[in-house]
Amino acid sequence: MREIAVFGGSSHPELTAEICAHLRVPQRPVLLKRFANDCLEVQLQSNCRERDVFIIQSLVRPVQEHLVELLLMADAARGASAGRVNAVIPHYAYARSDKKDAPRISIGGRLVADLLVTAGVDRVLTLNLHSPQVHGFFSVPVDHLHALRELAAHFRQRDLSNAVVVSPDLGYAKSAAAFARRLGLPVAAGAKERISDSEVRIAAIIGDVAGRDVIVLDDEISRGTTVFELLDRLREQGARSVAVACTHGLFADNALDKLAAADVTEIVCTNSAPLEAEHSKLTILSVAPALAEAISRIHNGESVSSLFDH
Ligand code: R5P
Repeated sequence: MREIAVFGGSSHPELTAEICAHLRVPQRPVLLKRFANDCLEVQLQSNCRERDVFIIQSLVRPVQEHLVELLLMADAARGASAGRVNAVIPHYAYARSDKKDAPRISIGGRLVADLLVTAGVDRVLTLNLHSPQVHGFFSVPVDHLHALRELAAHFRQRDLSNAVVVSPDLGYAKSAAAFARRLGLPVAAGAKERISDSEVRIAAIIGDVAGRDVIVLDDEISRGTTVFELLDRLREQGARSVAVACTHGLFADNALDKLAAADVTEIVCTNSAPLEAEHSKLTILSVAPALAEAISRIHNGESVSSLFDH
């Protein structure tokens, strides 16, 4: 069998180290150079020839820098005769650019998928894409994991006797329903309309939240605009308490502090994106064990979907 070789980009070294520790493999060194003209150059400092190469890079701020780094690493691995090049992208930020909903706009989710393949990526492992159809943007196999197992394990420790899961929008309602099923809870969803990157409107909540302990579930929290709007509606409709959970805790524009100051009991996210800020209300769940298990199964040619179905 081909040897595994794991490299990490500079976006999230802690997660790469954690994944390597779970896999019990060394993290291979990478040299990243920036020239005077601002161009980057990557050198993978370990043999790739005929290896099963995994490159771990989350597309987090600065997204464009990290994307180019990932493309260069894939190109370097392919040029070094890797047997297979796997991109492990815990947060695929361009997934939010997935449709032409205004004239003459780009669809970054599709373009970046093509760029990765052009750079030499043979396979992608990712987590909770903004919408499931983004999976289809890739012309190479994609293993699309979710973090519902980790999030559900966390909330199982809480008193759920009066709880309901609420998705901020109908697009995420299916995932929220799957999450609710894991916990044996009912589900509700907001009727959300996004006006701009910083403005959303939730006209109503479909489902019963009055007097309930709400668990809000979303794929990501960026500026928090969605959650703040939902909190207003939940308050109006008499929710008893609100906890907030998501896979990708991006917390742009100081959203974590603002959210913690709002009337929420707790905020739960995963470490798919690096997070410097801390808060007593915040719990960060690690996706490293799940990603390591998926990497191991991909490497050994075993089923990945069966691992995440239950
Ligand atoms: C949007 O449709 C997503 O599911 C999230 O609700 C959104 O990305 C969160 O962004 P923000 O926190 O800035 O509202």
